Amino acid sequence: MPKLTGIKNINVAVFISGTGSNFINLIEHSFKKKSKFKIKLVISNNPKAKGLKYAKKYKIKKKIINYKNLKNSEKDILSELDKTNIQIICLAGFMKILTVNFIKRFKGKIINIHPSLLPKYKGLNTHERVLDNNENYSGCTVHYVNSKLDAGKIILQKKVKIFKNDSSEKLSKRILKHEHLLYPRALKKIISSL
Ligand code: GAR
Repeated sequence: MPKLTGIKNINVAVFISGTGSNFINLIEHSFKKKSKFKIKLVISNNPKAKGLKYAKKYKIKKKIINYKNLKNSEKDILSELDKTNIQIICLAGFMKILTVNFIKRFKGKIINIHPSLLPKYKGLNTHERVLDNNENYSGCTVHYVNSKLDAGKIILQKKVKIFKNDSSEKLSKRILKHEHLLYPRALKKIISSL
């Protein structure tokens, strides 16, 4: 008989708006032998999000939310999360802000990845602002989501060196590689603390 103690199979939803490289990376990690989670659902506010192709490929349930009315949109998302028994939400390039009420329903169970060394450079156009300020380092951060933008408790962070000839595209590509290492580690860390 296999030993059942310690086995966890956490149902995860990923929220995306665009390319979905973090989404596919989490899917790949979920297939690893020692993985303690399954990606059960993807939510997108953008029907054209490129990342949605991975839902089709891996037969992951997807839900497009039109966001015309915020209250109804979040109601639809919550109903989908309940139906699919989601325990953890990973925001991965999701460009909508969740309301306080939504966050309360999933308190301590929503995490986000942001391409900067938070608390520095919250919000949009991160790499451009970092380069404009001649920073020597940038990086990426996985953090809990609270009611303030990019301000929740930090789970893991990775510092990345900025080079003299960096453009925002080059920097973003380099940081993205680190995001793909950091996000699964952060998810693993919070699952083991559940
Ligand atoms: C990632 O760099 C992520 O850190 C960033 O959007 C990109 C999504 O890429 N998120 C934010 O800026 C959130 N404030 P992906 O769609 O390829 O995963």
